[in-house]
Amino acid sequence: MCGIIGYIGYRKASEVLYSGLRTLEYRGYDSAGIATLDGGKISLIKDEGRIEQIHSKHNFFRLAGKIGIGHTRWATHGGVSQKNAHPHTDCKGRFCVVHNGVIENFDELRMSLIAQGHKLSSETDTEVVAHLFEEEAKKTKDASEAFSKAVSKLSGSWSLVAMREGEQAIYVSRNGSPLVLGIGSGEMFCASDIPALLPYTKEVVFLEDGDRAILTKNGYLIVGKDGKRQNRKVHTISWTANMAEKGGYPHFMLKEIAEQEEKMREALACDVSGAIRLLRNRKQLTVVACGTSYYAGLVLKTAMQCWLGLCVDVILGSEFAYMRTGKEKVVLAISQSGETADTLSAVRLAKKSGAKVIAVTNVAGSSLYREADANVMIGAGPEIAVVATKSFTCQVAALLKIALLLSGRKAELARLHALPELIGGVIRRSAEIQKIAKKLSGRRDFFFIGRSFAFPAALEGALKLKEITYLHAEAYAAGELKHGPLSLLEKDVVVLALAPSDGTLPKTISNIEECKARNATLMVLSDSKDALSKSELHFRMPSCDPFAVPILYAIPLQLLSYYMAVGLGRDPDKPRNLAKSVTVE
Ligand code: M6R
Repeated sequence: MCGIIGYIGYRKASEVLYSGLRTLEYRGYDSAGIATLDGGKISLIKDEGRIEQIHSKHNFFRLAGKIGIGHTRWATHGGVSQKNAHPHTDCKGRFCVVHNGVIENFDELRMSLIAQGHKLSSETDTEVVAHLFEEEAKKTKDASEAFSKAVSKLSGSWSLVAMREGEQAIYVSRNGSPLVLGIGSGEMFCASDIPALLPYTKEVVFLEDGDRAILTKNGYLIVGKDGKRQNRKVHTISWTANMAEKGGYPHFMLKEIAEQEEKMREALACDVSGAIRLLRNRKQLTVVACGTSYYAGLVLKTAMQCWLGLCVDVILGSEFAYMRTGKEKVVLAISQSGETADTLSAVRLAKKSGAKVIAVTNVAGSSLYREADANVMIGAGPEIAVVATKSFTCQVAALLKIALLLSGRKAELARLHALPELIGGVIRRSAEIQKIAKKLSGRRDFFFIGRSFAFPAALEGALKLKEITYLHAEAYAAGELKHGPLSLLEKDVVVLALAPSDGTLPKTISNIEECKARNATLMVLSDSKDALSKSELHFRMPSCDPFAVPILYAIPLQLLSYYMAVGLGRDPDKPRNLAKSVTVE
């Protein structure tokens, strides 16, 4: 969702903003803009389209000044257009603001501002903030106070970054949408996400909900929602700038797939002691997550229910409010970004009724990380492509580690450490997958099937394919086909069968036969000769424990989606309509 970057210091602001926006592209956007302050005056460039296109059309670098704010917009209120792109200004262009989130009372504020004579030129919820800032500044000379008063009139969610003509400062506020301050020497930054700050600093401060801050080139001052000055913890980030670069790969997605051998080692070394403390002797566990992270939760459910007889409810973050009992004692929330609004709101609801929270996340200092009673860091490193790849396999590894430790399965846990090598082996056979992708080009319908641990892997495989190729893909527990979806099978439909040689194999082979009998095109992933012989189109998998299937089988499915997307001329890093970090409900 929207990305924000702000800068004040000694560098040319437009250059910092441009590179920050490029780094934040992965969050998903449809338009972008920057504003800088030079000689006390605000200048602005914004437009719809990709940052590169906007830059070649308007040249961001023609804006001088050492203070500025920038934004990538993911449309919520008002269509994709130049006038709706951020930054937004007041009537005279003296106050300007960028925003991520949703101002819920914007309609009412808009009416009242219009009644006071303000001229609003966009359809966005954000623009009201610039006009409120203007209005409040009529009552006080103190710009920080005027900004605070303007913010106090808002309801909804936001991270807001603003400037005022003539002031050597940036004003920021956070409520429900992420915003992190970057501390430099003689310069300050703010951004929606850490990667935008990595080329400049590793010292960061995560703002809390209700915080307001003023940034100058020499430092920052934070005021909490109680109106008192706050000393928020300064975190030192271990990620490096080149971790967030493509490093010679054509796409981030391919780089992130390739990193999984190494990242799996880090995930397996993760500290799960806090989670184990909260989970020991429990009879029930609630898991909340969205998208790929939800599928990782299904792997945990299979493991915990089989091995511990523990009852595990895995609930989508967006459904938790309607499904919770209010008696949840421990909620385990899974989120790569730690900023997914649906997951966070589930966690907050659960906390209100007294639940303890375990966070399984990739971003130290994220909102989820800070809300949790115990954290499990999956160690995947920055994931820039919109689609989850290494974060999924690392989440599953961390979750399996928890389940294996809780159930005392030491030998199985030791065997997990063979995974990096096996993953590397599959990745080195990418060319085979590329050939399969070519053979499947032109097909429009894909069904992924698997049983037990292979079922969440099938769900994740289908999600990957639909996200980046825009082709129709869905996943079923293999035994479910006969309960309905079989009616859809015909010659051009592709069935990707995940058939590991575990106890599920005979039944999965029967399901493969059912599909063959309906003339579907089969592509089999298996370590069993029997299963592989069922289709000319197949990929031989290394043998592994059943519980390792979601990790190992995810790799060829990620590669298949990647090559199919590239074959179709799609950008696998930035799928249409999707955002990396979904910060609205
Ligand atoms: O950051 P999170 O893990 O909370 O994100 C959850 C989903 O938005 C995310 O997994 C989404 O489904 C990805 N696009 C999957 O590739």
